[in-house]
Amino acid sequence: MSESNPIKSAVEKVVDTVAHHGHPEKAEIPGVPNSEPPSLEEPVEPREPLAPKPDQTGPDTFSPTGQPTGASQDAVAQGGAFLTSAQGVRLPDTDHSLKAGPRGPVLLQDFHLREKIMHFDHERIPERVVHARGSAAHGVFRSYGTAANITKAAFLAEGVETPVFVRFSTVLGSRGSADTVRDTRGFATKFYTTEGVYDLVGNNIPVFFIQDGIKFPDVIHAGKPHPDREIPQAQSAHDTFWDFVSLHTEATHHTMWNMSDRGIPRSFRMMEGFGVHTFRLVNAEGATTLVKFHWKPKLGVHSLTWEEAQLINGVDPDYHRRDLADAIEAGAYPQWELGIQTFPDTPEQMFEGIDLLDPTKIVPEELAPVQPIGLLELNRNPSNFFAETEQVAFHAGHLVPGIDVTDDPLLAARLFSYLDTQLTRLGGPNFPQIPINRPHAPVNDMLRDGFHQDAVHRGVAPYRPNSLDGGCPFQAGAAQGGYVEVPLEVSGRKVREAPASYADHFSQPRLFWRSMSPVEKEHIIDAYTFELGKCYEQAVKERQLRVLANIDPVLCREVAQGLGLPAPEPSEPLAEPAPSPALSQVGREWPTAGRIIGIVADDSCDLGVVGAVREAVLAAGMVPLIVAPKGGMLGTMPVQRTFLTARSVEFDALLLAGAPAPGKDAFGARDAKAGNLLPDGSVDPRVVLMVMEVYRHAKAIGGWGTAARVLTQAGVPEQAPGVVVGEDGEQVLRETIRLLAAHRVWERFPPAA
Ligand code: HEM
Repeated sequence: MSESNPIKSAVEKVVDTVAHHGHPEKAEIPGVPNSEPPSLEEPVEPREPLAPKPDQTGPDTFSPTGQPTGASQDAVAQGGAFLTSAQGVRLPDTDHSLKAGPRGPVLLQDFHLREKIMHFDHERIPERVVHARGSAAHGVFRSYGTAANITKAAFLAEGVETPVFVRFSTVLGSRGSADTVRDTRGFATKFYTTEGVYDLVGNNIPVFFIQDGIKFPDVIHAGKPHPDREIPQAQSAHDTFWDFVSLHTEATHHTMWNMSDRGIPRSFRMMEGFGVHTFRLVNAEGATTLVKFHWKPKLGVHSLTWEEAQLINGVDPDYHRRDLADAIEAGAYPQWELGIQTFPDTPEQMFEGIDLLDPTKIVPEELAPVQPIGLLELNRNPSNFFAETEQVAFHAGHLVPGIDVTDDPLLAARLFSYLDTQLTRLGGPNFPQIPINRPHAPVNDMLRDGFHQDAVHRGVAPYRPNSLDGGCPFQAGAAQGGYVEVPLEVSGRKVREAPASYADHFSQPRLFWRSMSPVEKEHIIDAYTFELGKCYEQAVKERQLRVLANIDPVLCREVAQGLGLPAPEPSEPLAEPAPSPALSQVGREWPTAGRIIGIVADDSCDLGVVGAVREAVLAAGMVPLIVAPKGGMLGTMPVQRTFLTARSVEFDALLLAGAPAPGKDAFGARDAKAGNLLPDGSVDPRVVLMVMEVYRHAKAIGGWGTAARVLTQAGVPEQAPGVVVGEDGEQVLRETIRLLAAHRVWERFPPAA
């Protein structure tokens, strides 16, 4: 993030624009729909299309064969002031079909009607078979050069800057599903390197459900909605999921992570990412090192509470998508450090007894520290969701010299699956030529023709050997930058078997459980109890309890109690792994940049203080949202949320500038969250609800002026942890920010069982 208060200057820019165009209601927060505010009346004067907003760009302009075109991005956007057909013919009317008289039949001759409807009929393409719901951003990766001794990959040399495109996703839901469901998140990065495209297609969970890719259709069929009723959408809390994972116990470790707070991230900006598999790095001398990739967010790893997540799914189903785009628009560019754990490339491919080819196992950071090798920053929003975020095609097999795969059988299936699925999803074999997928390195393949061929190839000899095209293209050995696989010996019987080490399904889930703080353990118990509680079949619940018994007796007992079932005994001895403190999210302090602070105020408050606090929030690199009884302006400040539109879950912390009386619309028939009973001297009941929720979700609450009255009506003790009441608004804010650095007021959650 830049040093000079990026959010403040971005907001000021918006305020200037708004002041210029006279639309105060659009001021202040990222998220306005376009680069210019609209006029009240429909514009009639022909003009060129509006420029994109300053935070938005399309893909860099490379030709379908990877040559920089030097063209401005305008060259691929629509141009000209007038409506045209797809052939560039200007059109006088797109509102009426061509008819034989105003009441006559429509004429087949109407080429515009046919073209418009034909194109509309084909606007949807198949969604991704998994990870359908996602959001993405452009950015840059700057290499520290610290991996240059173990890999010859050019983009990992010291100081090299590589453009990237990153897409975050959920796994189970459809394209239109909500963001904050309990699920694994995808974290896929496309590096446009000078040696061709490299994709690191990872998740926010370091292990996977299955050890062999041949089981992928099984786990996904179990997790997706039931095939008869197609419910439930985007969640694992149903019988088929738990039926599968309780039988297929190698899924236990991944499932444990899903049931932890990692399954409900606060923001894409606050998630770790993992390459999951072990990869093999190769240096210029041909020496190899085994590595696991990690993305470490600068803002720390933070999660929602389960109740928040569920409320947000209704209040703002685009919560994560909006959060990422708004942060980038406001200049609070999210950053992650790329790190690697390194292991000697021995024939056993084991490290400290952990099988490096088993994707259900981690190597604790305490055994192999994560060494930083570069910094990722996301700093541009896409200018068109479909063209970029939807059409991007990641592939675990997009490798560059210096990075090779291992024999992990999960990875092997992925190396086939991505290209295969994209053939259908993107309508033919030429999807590498879609602008967002184009390499930034020259492409000279001998692939020809096919649906949507964008390149205009020259020559007559797309075959090898040839003499008619002068022998071109020529093969490149390692010395010329060719990708040469590591020449490892391979031998063995042909079998359908897993190695013996893959049979340990419980020691690492137990390691994870033992690494959690008491409050995180409570959340895990709650999540298992919720998910299994939503299953219909007792047998499925009982079977999963047997799995939990093999992880930990307390976990099993507590979940069994919630389900009203007896807790079974373990079927095998419990391992005693050393905890890995690095796995816990609790107990440290993190930057608060980009956090959302709600400031509740009305005309009865000292608006001078409210203004000063709002400025101080901006100065701290956070986003202040003024919450007032009605829209428009509060003094000189634009109101972003009203008591009707606001809900506590939007805010990371809440400030109360006083005790607002009930707004004019504060009666149940208008706004059900107001309730009906408003005794004299009441605070607006929606503000009271907001405070109750913020308190329950263990977020910081600050107040000055008459704010104590709100706390009283919400039943929140003034002395409770994480509640700051004072005379001086700015001092209250400073205290609140200090609390926010720990993400939540953890001690406010009830003590562990
Ligand atoms: C370590 C295990 C895995 C990880 C980390 C992973 C990660 C991902 C991610 C992040 C995406 C979304 C990419 C995007 O944003 O467009 C994705 C999509 C996909 N994955 Fe995986 N995946 C894993 C295992 C598998 C396996 C075993 C298979 C199949 C055998 C598979 C097949 C697919 C398919 C078909 C897509 C959709 C791709 C598209 O339509 O472009 N994945 N995966």
